Amino acid sequence: MFLKVKGVCDNFFEMTYWSGVRKKIEAHLKSYNFGEIDTPILEHVSLFQRGLGYETDVVSKQMFIIESKGSSRDDDQICLRPEGTAGTMRAFLDEQSQAVTPCKVFSYGPMFRYERPQKGRMREFHQINLEMIGGASILYDAHLIKMLQTLFAEVLQIESFVLKLNFLGQPADRKEFVTALVAFLTPQVASLCADCQTRLQSNPLRVLDCKSVSCQKLFESAPKLSDFFSQQTQAQWQLLQETLHELSVTYVIDPHLVRGLDYYNKTVFEFVSVNLGAQSAFCAGGRYDGLAQQLGSKVEVPAFGSAIGMERLLMILESQKERLSEKPQPLTCIIPLTEAQNKLALHLADFLQSHAKAVDLLLDDQKTQNKMKKANQLKAQFVLILGEDEQKNNTVTVKNMITGSQEVVLQSEVHMKV
Ligand code: HAM
Repeated sequence: MFLKVKGVCDNFFEMTYWSGVRKKIEAHLKSYNFGEIDTPILEHVSLFQRGLGYETDVVSKQMFIIESKGSSRDDDQICLRPEGTAGTMRAFLDEQSQAVTPCKVFSYGPMFRYERPQKGRMREFHQINLEMIGGASILYDAHLIKMLQTLFAEVLQIESFVLKLNFLGQPADRKEFVTALVAFLTPQVASLCADCQTRLQSNPLRVLDCKSVSCQKLFESAPKLSDFFSQQTQAQWQLLQETLHELSVTYVIDPHLVRGLDYYNKTVFEFVSVNLGAQSAFCAGGRYDGLAQQLGSKVEVPAFGSAIGMERLLMILESQKERLSEKPQPLTCIIPLTEAQNKLALHLADFLQSHAKAVDLLLDDQKTQNKMKKANQLKAQFVLILGEDEQKNNTVTVKNMITGSQEVVLQSEVHMKV
């Protein structure tokens, strides 16, 4: 017996739930003119080092780097993607001559991060990743946040969630702020937790979203990023808030929300649920106008996006599983009464499948009673019984498993009865 790898999940009996939720999300995205794309799971490590930042936890601690034969240069190193935005931007820059901007795309797939597994935190998890590339107006941010809020509140009907919002300004605004923040915290460095002491050197902005209560207490009197906004940044932040109000989007401003990936500027947000415990964000994102240039583009390509964590979303929706699961096609089970009818059962199954019916065959068990029991467990709506008489007369007995009624019909007409 093999055990599964730590931090991953099998999906054996839950697929109808997963695909039911996915399809609802995808239909919603398509109604906002998002098109589906797919990008590789394998990417160069340097894509994330340049895109997300060398000092981010995701890059410095959580990458699954693949030991591949034949690669000697460091920048040829390959990894399992930890997130979808950098790969999507790489692909866009490759294909941009064909794209109409803003280019709105979504993709679905597994992401990999080497984290300590806990509730809602996996090493292999799945995201629906949505990106709008080439849209500069801050009104797009409001539009897409509203789209997500409608998805969660109305389409999926999540009972309680909160949208946390913050504005990170432009790199120039942040530069002055970071200097002030470091000057404020350095004399008190001994009171910071070990993680914050390291971050103060490597990525000072990230200290702000530290979960430690004592660190948060210290930050209460720290300088505020919004005090360092230029007039233009301030005006955009105001416009975003006003527009969200006009669109009836409820949010709370969290000045300590900075997000763990360096590519963000201006808008950042997280949808959180109290039902998730410590890992409370089930969807997160923001604006990343600088990423394209980080990846080598000569011009700025403004962009905005978000990713929905499927495992966490499905945890929140657990109580609505029945409603959200994909409804299977009505099933017909074919039961030959003896081995002599087995081949006929195969032909009948082929015939029904050619008429787009969902069919299953029960061949192995000797006892008809056991076969009927299995058909029930499979939730078959119809059972087709093939005995000696039916074989001789080219007929089949159709039993409706819901009403219990039974009738004998010609095999050539059975597709009209199930
Ligand atoms: P992120 O916040 O790192 O952002 O991840 C987005 C979501 O993925 C999280 O809110 C969470 O639901 C889920 N998630 C992240 N890590 C794990 C994990 N270890 N186990 C289970 N679920 C997890 C990004 O990935 C950005 N690329 C989002 C984005 C798109 N920003 C702009 N465009």
